[in-house]
Amino acid sequence: MSTFVKATETYQQGQRTLPGRYYTSGEIHAEEQQRIFTRRWICAGRAAEIPEAGDYVLRTIAGESVIVVRGRDGAPRAFYNVCRHRGTRLCEEPQGRFSETIQCPYHAWTYTIDGQLIGAPHMSEVAGFEKRDYPLHGVALETWEGFVFLNLAREPEPFTRAFAPLVGRFSRFNLASLKSARRIDYDVAANWKLIFQNYSECLHCPVIHPGLVKLTPYTSGANDLFDGPFLGGYMVMTKEGGSLTMSGRACGAPVGRLPAEDLNRVYFYSIFPNLLLSLHPDYVMFHTLWPDGPGRTRISCEWLFHPDSFRDGAFTPDDAVRFWDETNRQDWHICERSHAGIASRAYVPGPYSPREGISAAWDREFLRALGHAQ
Ligand code: FES
Ligand SMILES: [Fe+2]
Repeated sequence: MSTFVKATETYQQGQRTLPGRYYTSGEIHAEEQQRIFTRRWICAGRAAEIPEAGDYVLRTIAGESVIVVRGRDGAPRAFYNVCRHRGTRLCEEPQGRFSETIQCPYHAWTYTIDGQLIGAPHMSEVAGFEKRDYPLHGVALETWEGFVFLNLAREPEPFTRAFAPLVGRFSRFNLASLKSARRIDYDVAANWKLIFQNYSECLHCPVIHPGLVKLTPYTSGANDLFDGPFLGGYMVMTKEGGSLTMSGRACGAPVGRLPAEDLNRVYFYSIFPNLLLSLHPDYVMFHTLWPDGPGRTRISCEWLFHPDSFRDGAFTPDDAVRFWDETNRQDWHICERSHAGIASRAYVPGPYSPREGISAAWDREFLRALGHAQ
Protein backbone atom coordinates (compact mmCIF):
# COMPACT_ATOMS: atom_id res chain seq x y z
CA MET A 1 0.00 0.00 0.00
CA SER A 2 1.09 3.53 -0.68
CA THR A 3 1.94 5.77 2.20
CA PHE A 4 1.34 9.42 1.49
CA VAL A 5 3.49 12.07 3.10
CA LYS A 6 3.09 15.85 2.99
CA ALA A 7 5.57 17.49 0.61
CA THR A 8 7.07 19.59 3.39
CA GLU A 9 7.95 16.47 5.44
CA THR A 10 10.32 15.02 2.83
CA TYR A 11 12.11 18.31 2.23
CA GLN A 12 15.87 18.21 2.78
CA GLN A 13 17.35 21.50 4.00
CA GLY A 14 20.08 23.19 2.06
CA GLN A 15 19.62 21.91 -1.49
CA ARG A 16 20.13 24.41 -4.29
CA THR A 17 19.22 24.36 -7.96
CA LEU A 18 21.70 22.92 -10.45
CA PRO A 19 24.67 24.95 -11.75
CA GLY A 20 24.09 26.69 -15.09
CA ARG A 21 26.29 24.35 -17.12
CA TYR A 22 23.75 21.56 -16.61
CA TYR A 23 21.33 23.55 -18.73
CA THR A 24 23.58 25.11 -21.34
CA SER A 25 26.66 22.96 -21.93
CA GLY A 26 26.84 20.80 -25.05
CA GLU A 27 29.24 18.51 -23.19
CA ILE A 28 26.79 17.84 -20.37
CA HIS A 29 24.06 17.31 -22.94
CA ALA A 30 26.21 14.68 -24.71
CA GLU A 31 26.91 13.04 -21.36
CA GLU A 32 23.20 12.92 -20.56
CA GLN A 33 22.50 11.32 -23.90
CA GLN A 34 25.13 8.64 -23.27
CA ARG A 35 24.58 7.95 -19.60
CA ILE A 36 20.83 8.40 -19.38
CA PHE A 37 19.09 8.25 -22.74
CA THR A 38 21.04 5.27 -24.11
CA ARG A 39 20.75 3.35 -20.82
CA ARG A 40 17.32 3.98 -19.35
CA TRP A 41 13.91 2.81 -20.50
CA ILE A 42 12.51 5.61 -22.66
CA CYS A 43 8.75 5.97 -23.15
CA ALA A 44 7.97 5.98 -26.88
CA GLY A 45 4.21 6.60 -26.59
CA ARG A 46 1.26 4.23 -26.89
CA ALA A 47 1.29 0.76 -28.42
CA ALA A 48 -2.11 1.64 -29.93
CA GLU A 49 -0.34 4.06 -32.28
CA ILE A 50 0.71 1.02 -34.33
CA PRO A 51 -2.47 -1.13 -34.22
CA GLU A 52 -1.90 -3.33 -37.31
CA ALA A 53 0.97 -5.53 -38.54
CA GLY A 54 3.38 -3.33 -40.51
CA ASP A 55 2.32 -0.07 -38.79
CA TYR A 56 5.36 1.85 -37.61
CA VAL A 57 6.53 5.07 -35.98
CA LEU A 58 10.03 6.53 -35.83
CA ARG A 59 11.50 7.80 -32.57
CA THR A 60 14.79 9.59 -32.03
CA ILE A 61 16.65 8.71 -28.83
CA ALA A 62 20.12 10.10 -28.12
CA GLY A 63 20.45 11.01 -31.81
CA GLU A 64 19.54 7.46 -32.89
CA SER A 65 16.58 6.92 -35.21
CA VAL A 66 14.58 3.87 -34.14
CA ILE A 67 11.79 2.12 -36.06
CA VAL A 68 8.99 0.81 -33.83
CA VAL A 69 6.89 -1.62 -35.87
CA ARG A 70 4.13 -4.12 -35.16
CA GLY A 71 5.07 -7.60 -36.39
CA ARG A 72 2.95 -10.25 -38.16
CA ASP A 73 2.59 -12.01 -34.81
CA GLY A 74 1.04 -8.87 -33.33
CA ALA A 75 4.06 -8.04 -31.15
CA PRO A 76 5.68 -4.59 -31.39
CA ARG A 77 9.43 -4.62 -32.10
CA ALA A 78 12.08 -1.94 -32.47
CA PHE A 79 15.09 -1.70 -34.77
CA TYR A 80 17.82 0.80 -35.47
CA ASN A 81 16.92 2.64 -38.67
CA VAL A 82 20.16 1.45 -40.27
CA CYS A 83 20.63 -0.84 -43.30
CA ARG A 84 22.99 -3.77 -42.77
CA HIS A 85 24.53 -3.24 -46.24
CA ARG A 86 26.13 0.21 -46.19
CA GLY A 87 24.29 1.68 -43.26
CA THR A 88 21.70 3.83 -45.04
CA ARG A 89 18.73 5.13 -43.05
CA LEU A 90 15.91 2.85 -44.17
CA CYS A 91 12.93 5.01 -43.44
CA GLU A 92 12.29 8.78 -43.40
CA GLU A 93 8.54 9.22 -42.95
CA PRO A 94 7.87 9.64 -39.20
CA GLN A 95 5.01 7.14 -39.31
CA GLY A 96 3.19 4.86 -41.72
CA ARG A 97 2.74 1.24 -42.71
CA PHE A 98 5.25 -1.07 -44.38
CA SER A 99 3.47 -2.98 -47.15
CA GLU A 100 5.05 -6.39 -46.53
CA THR A 101 8.70 -5.65 -46.04
CA ILE A 102 11.17 -2.91 -45.20
CA GLN A 103 13.26 -2.14 -48.25
CA CYS A 104 16.40 -0.03 -48.24
CA PRO A 105 16.11 2.81 -50.75
CA TYR A 106 19.77 2.50 -51.79
CA HIS A 107 20.48 -1.01 -53.17
CA ALA A 108 17.18 -2.65 -52.24
CA TRP A 109 18.24 -4.93 -49.42
CA THR A 110 14.88 -6.13 -48.13
CA TYR A 111 13.89 -7.11 -44.59
CA THR A 112 10.76 -8.63 -43.11
CA ILE A 113 8.95 -6.45 -40.58
CA ASP A 114 10.42 -8.82 -37.99
CA GLY A 115 13.87 -7.61 -39.06
CA GLN A 116 15.12 -10.63 -41.04
CA LEU A 117 17.02 -9.96 -44.26
CA ILE A 118 15.25 -11.73 -47.16
CA GLY A 119 16.62 -9.95 -50.24
CA ALA A 120 20.12 -8.70 -51.07
CA PRO A 121 20.81 -8.25 -54.80
CA HIS A 122 24.04 -9.90 -56.05
CA MET A 123 25.13 -10.93 -52.59
CA SER A 124 24.76 -14.62 -53.46
CA GLU A 125 27.93 -14.05 -55.52
CA VAL A 126 29.79 -13.10 -52.34
CA ALA A 127 31.71 -15.98 -50.76
CA GLY A 128 30.28 -17.02 -47.41
CA PHE A 129 27.42 -14.48 -47.46
CA GLU A 130 24.40 -15.67 -45.51
CA LYS A 131 21.29 -13.52 -45.25
CA ARG A 132 20.61 -14.83 -41.77
CA ASP A 133 23.81 -13.13 -40.58
CA TYR A 134 22.40 -9.68 -41.38
CA PRO A 135 19.15 -9.02 -39.50
CA LEU A 136 18.33 -5.44 -38.55
CA HIS A 137 19.94 -4.38 -35.27
CA GLY A 138 17.30 -4.75 -32.59
CA VAL A 139 16.41 -2.31 -29.80
CA ALA A 140 14.97 -3.65 -26.53
CA LEU A 141 11.23 -3.00 -26.26
CA GLU A 142 8.75 -3.58 -23.46
CA THR A 143 5.15 -2.58 -23.02
CA TRP A 144 3.65 -1.49 -19.73
CA GLU A 145 0.07 -0.28 -19.19
CA GLY A 146 -0.34 0.32 -22.94
CA PHE A 147 2.90 2.32 -23.21
CA VAL A 148 5.91 1.28 -25.30
CA PHE A 149 9.34 1.62 -23.72
CA LEU A 150 12.64 1.38 -25.59
CA ASN A 151 16.14 0.82 -24.30
CA LEU A 152 19.26 1.31 -26.43
CA ALA A 153 21.61 -0.45 -24.00
CA ARG A 154 23.19 -3.66 -25.23
CA GLU A 155 22.28 -5.30 -21.94
CA PRO A 156 19.43 -3.22 -20.55
CA GLU A 157 18.39 -3.41 -16.95
CA PRO A 158 15.35 -5.75 -17.02
CA PHE A 159 12.25 -3.60 -17.33
CA THR A 160 10.43 -5.41 -14.54
CA ARG A 161 13.28 -4.61 -12.18
CA ALA A 162 13.65 -0.99 -13.30
CA PHE A 163 9.89 -0.42 -13.04
CA ALA A 164 9.22 -2.59 -9.96
CA PRO A 165 7.97 0.37 -7.86
CA LEU A 166 5.31 1.15 -10.49
CA VAL A 167 4.12 -2.32 -11.44
CA GLY A 168 0.47 -2.66 -10.44
CA ARG A 169 0.48 0.78 -8.84
CA PHE A 170 -2.00 2.32 -11.28
CA SER A 171 -4.08 -0.80 -12.11
CA ARG A 172 -7.30 0.87 -10.96
CA PHE A 173 -6.85 3.52 -13.66
CA ASN A 174 -7.20 0.89 -16.38
CA LEU A 175 -4.37 2.50 -18.38
CA ALA A 176 -3.86 -0.31 -20.91
CA SER A 177 -7.36 -0.04 -22.34
CA LEU A 178 -7.69 3.76 -22.43
CA LYS A 179 -7.92 5.36 -25.86
CA SER A 180 -6.30 8.51 -27.12
CA ALA A 181 -8.60 11.43 -27.92
CA ARG A 182 -5.93 13.99 -28.85
CA ARG A 183 -2.22 14.56 -29.11
CA ILE A 184 -0.50 17.94 -29.24
CA ASP A 185 3.21 18.31 -29.97
CA TYR A 186 5.15 21.25 -28.59
CA ASP A 187 8.60 22.59 -29.38
CA VAL A 188 9.98 24.30 -26.28
CA ALA A 189 13.12 26.48 -26.10
CA ALA A 190 14.17 25.16 -22.69
CA ASN A 191 16.31 22.39 -21.27
CA TRP A 192 14.38 19.16 -20.61
CA LYS A 193 15.25 19.20 -16.90
CA LEU A 194 13.39 22.48 -16.42
CA ILE A 195 10.23 20.76 -17.63
CA PHE A 196 10.61 18.04 -14.98
CA GLN A 197 11.40 20.53 -12.22
CA ASN A 198 8.41 22.63 -13.22
CA TYR A 199 6.09 19.60 -13.24
CA SER A 200 7.31 18.60 -9.78
CA GLU A 201 6.07 21.62 -7.83
CA CYS A 202 2.96 23.74 -7.62
CA LEU A 203 4.59 26.68 -5.87
CA HIS A 204 4.32 28.41 -9.23
CA CYS A 205 0.64 27.55 -9.67
CA PRO A 206 -0.95 30.64 -8.03
CA VAL A 207 1.18 32.88 -10.25
CA ILE A 208 1.30 30.94 -13.52
CA HIS A 209 -1.98 28.98 -13.49
CA PRO A 210 -4.80 31.04 -11.92
CA GLY A 211 -7.36 28.69 -13.55
CA LEU A 212 -5.79 25.57 -12.10
CA VAL A 213 -5.57 26.77 -8.51
CA LYS A 214 -9.33 27.47 -8.51
CA LEU A 215 -9.87 23.73 -9.08
CA THR A 216 -7.09 22.31 -6.94
CA PRO A 217 -5.39 24.27 -4.12
CA TYR A 218 -1.64 24.26 -4.63
CA THR A 219 -0.87 23.34 -1.02
CA SER A 220 -3.24 20.33 -1.05
CA GLY A 221 -2.30 16.68 -1.31
CA ALA A 222 0.69 14.52 -0.50
CA ASN A 223 3.33 12.32 -2.15
CA ASP A 224 3.90 8.58 -2.00
CA LEU A 225 7.03 8.53 -4.19
CA PHE A 226 9.54 11.14 -3.05
CA ASP A 227 12.99 9.69 -3.78
CA GLY A 228 14.37 7.82 -6.77
CA PRO A 229 13.46 7.68 -10.47
CA PHE A 230 9.70 7.83 -9.93
CA LEU A 231 8.28 10.78 -8.02
CA GLY A 232 4.88 12.19 -7.25
CA GLY A 233 1.57 12.00 -5.47
CA TYR A 234 -1.81 13.70 -5.59
CA MET A 235 -3.53 17.05 -5.24
CA VAL A 236 -7.13 17.49 -4.12
CA MET A 237 -9.89 18.80 -6.33
CA THR A 238 -12.25 20.98 -4.38
CA LYS A 239 -15.44 20.36 -6.38
CA GLU A 240 -17.50 17.19 -6.05
CA GLY A 241 -17.51 15.41 -9.46
CA GLY A 242 -14.86 17.81 -10.59
CA SER A 243 -11.86 17.39 -12.82
CA LEU A 244 -9.18 19.57 -14.35
CA THR A 245 -11.19 20.86 -17.29
CA MET A 246 -12.32 24.27 -18.58
CA SER A 247 -15.78 23.69 -17.08
CA GLY A 248 -14.34 22.27 -13.85
CA ARG A 249 -16.49 19.17 -14.31
CA ALA A 250 -15.51 15.65 -15.37
CA CYS A 251 -15.85 15.39 -19.15
CA GLY A 252 -15.60 11.63 -19.66
CA ALA A 253 -16.65 8.35 -18.04
CA PRO A 254 -14.51 7.32 -15.05
CA VAL A 255 -11.31 5.75 -16.42
CA GLY A 256 -11.60 2.75 -14.11
CA ARG A 257 -13.28 1.43 -11.00
CA LEU A 258 -11.95 4.14 -8.78
CA PRO A 259 -12.43 4.28 -5.02
CA ALA A 260 -14.32 7.33 -3.77
CA GLU A 261 -11.14 9.10 -2.61
CA ASP A 262 -9.74 9.06 -6.17
CA LEU A 263 -12.76 10.91 -7.52
CA ASN A 264 -11.55 14.16 -6.01
CA ARG A 265 -7.84 13.64 -6.60
CA VAL A 266 -5.48 14.23 -9.47
CA TYR A 267 -2.24 12.23 -9.35
CA PHE A 268 0.96 13.55 -10.88
CA TYR A 269 3.97 11.28 -11.41
CA SER A 270 7.28 11.92 -13.13
CA ILE A 271 8.84 8.77 -14.54
CA PHE A 272 12.54 9.20 -15.19
CA PRO A 273 13.79 10.14 -17.70
CA ASN A 274 11.08 11.17 -20.17
CA LEU A 275 7.50 10.49 -19.03
CA LEU A 276 5.02 12.57 -17.05
CA LEU A 277 1.82 10.82 -16.06
CA SER A 278 -1.21 12.78 -14.83
CA LEU A 279 -4.16 10.70 -13.67
CA HIS A 280 -7.57 12.35 -13.38
CA PRO A 281 -10.84 10.58 -12.51
CA ASP A 282 -12.13 10.89 -16.09
CA TYR A 283 -8.95 10.97 -18.18
CA VAL A 284 -5.23 10.36 -18.14
CA MET A 285 -2.81 12.79 -19.69
CA PHE A 286 0.80 11.96 -20.41
CA HIS A 287 3.76 13.90 -21.74
CA THR A 288 6.84 12.38 -23.33
CA LEU A 289 9.95 14.59 -23.45
CA TRP A 290 12.51 14.49 -26.25
CA PRO A 291 15.61 16.60 -25.56
CA ASP A 292 17.05 18.08 -28.75
CA GLY A 293 20.19 19.88 -27.64
CA PRO A 294 20.69 21.63 -24.28
CA GLY A 295 18.25 24.44 -25.09
CA ARG A 296 15.41 22.63 -26.81
CA THR A 297 12.85 20.00 -25.83
CA ARG A 298 10.18 18.52 -28.02
CA ILE A 299 7.17 17.50 -25.95
CA SER A 300 4.31 15.30 -26.97
CA CYS A 301 1.15 15.49 -24.87
CA GLU A 302 -1.71 13.05 -25.17
CA TRP A 303 -5.15 12.68 -23.54
CA LEU A 304 -6.55 9.20 -22.90
CA PHE A 305 -10.15 8.34 -22.08
CA HIS A 306 -12.18 5.24 -21.28
CA PRO A 307 -13.51 3.58 -24.48
CA ASP A 308 -17.07 4.17 -23.18
CA SER A 309 -16.55 7.90 -23.39
CA PHE A 310 -16.16 7.69 -27.18
CA ARG A 311 -19.55 5.95 -27.46
CA ASP A 312 -21.30 8.84 -25.72
CA GLY A 313 -22.58 11.37 -28.26
CA ALA A 314 -22.15 14.23 -25.77
CA PHE A 315 -18.47 13.39 -25.10
CA THR A 316 -16.34 16.57 -24.99
CA PRO A 317 -12.62 15.76 -24.67
CA ASP A 318 -11.93 19.40 -25.61
CA ASP A 319 -12.95 20.42 -22.10
CA ALA A 320 -9.84 18.60 -20.79
CA VAL A 321 -7.62 19.21 -23.82
CA ARG A 322 -8.14 22.98 -23.83
CA PHE A 323 -7.56 23.19 -20.09
CA TRP A 324 -4.20 21.44 -20.26
CA ASP A 325 -3.15 22.91 -23.58
CA GLU A 326 -3.49 26.34 -21.97
CA THR A 327 -1.75 25.16 -18.79
CA ASN A 328 1.01 23.46 -20.81
CA ARG A 329 1.69 26.67 -22.72
CA GLN A 330 1.86 28.65 -19.49
CA ASP A 331 4.41 26.12 -18.20
CA TRP A 332 6.47 26.01 -21.40
CA HIS A 333 6.63 29.78 -21.53
CA ILE A 334 7.87 30.13 -17.96
CA CYS A 335 10.37 27.28 -18.57
CA GLU A 336 11.68 29.17 -21.61
CA ARG A 337 12.05 32.34 -19.51
CA SER A 338 13.73 30.26 -16.82
CA HIS A 339 16.15 28.79 -19.36
CA ALA A 340 16.96 32.26 -20.71
CA GLY A 341 17.78 33.55 -17.23
CA ILE A 342 19.83 30.50 -16.27
CA ALA A 343 21.93 31.00 -19.40
CA SER A 344 23.05 34.38 -18.01
CA ARG A 345 26.54 34.76 -16.58
CA ALA A 346 24.83 36.24 -13.51
CA TYR A 347 22.98 33.01 -12.67
CA VAL A 348 24.09 31.08 -9.61
CA PRO A 349 22.17 28.16 -8.03
CA GLY A 350 19.36 29.33 -5.75
CA PRO A 351 17.76 27.68 -2.70
CA TYR A 352 14.79 25.31 -3.02
CA SER A 353 11.87 25.85 -0.62
CA PRO A 354 9.97 23.09 1.24
CA ARG A 355 7.29 23.40 -1.46
CA GLU A 356 9.87 22.31 -4.09
CA GLY A 357 10.98 19.11 -2.37
CA ILE A 358 10.07 16.89 -5.33
CA SER A 359 11.95 19.12 -7.79
CA ALA A 360 14.98 18.84 -5.49
CA ALA A 361 14.53 15.03 -5.31
CA TRP A 362 14.38 14.92 -9.10
CA ASP A 363 17.69 16.82 -9.33
CA ARG A 364 19.30 14.34 -6.92
CA GLU A 365 18.15 11.41 -9.03
CA PHE A 366 19.34 13.14 -12.20
CA LEU A 367 22.82 13.66 -10.73
CA ARG A 368 22.93 10.01 -9.60
CA ALA A 369 21.92 8.83 -13.08
CA LEU A 370 24.61 11.01 -14.63
CA GLY A 371 27.23 9.77 -12.18
CA HIS A 372 27.71 13.31 -10.81
CA ALA A 373 26.24 12.82 -7.34
CA GLN A 374 28.57 13.71 -4.47
S1 FES B 1 22.84 0.63 -48.11
FE1 FES B 1 20.98 -0.40 -47.90
S2 FES B 1 20.93 -1.65 -49.63
FE2 FES B 1 22.83 -0.69 -49.81
FE1 LIG C 1 2.73 24.40 -14.08
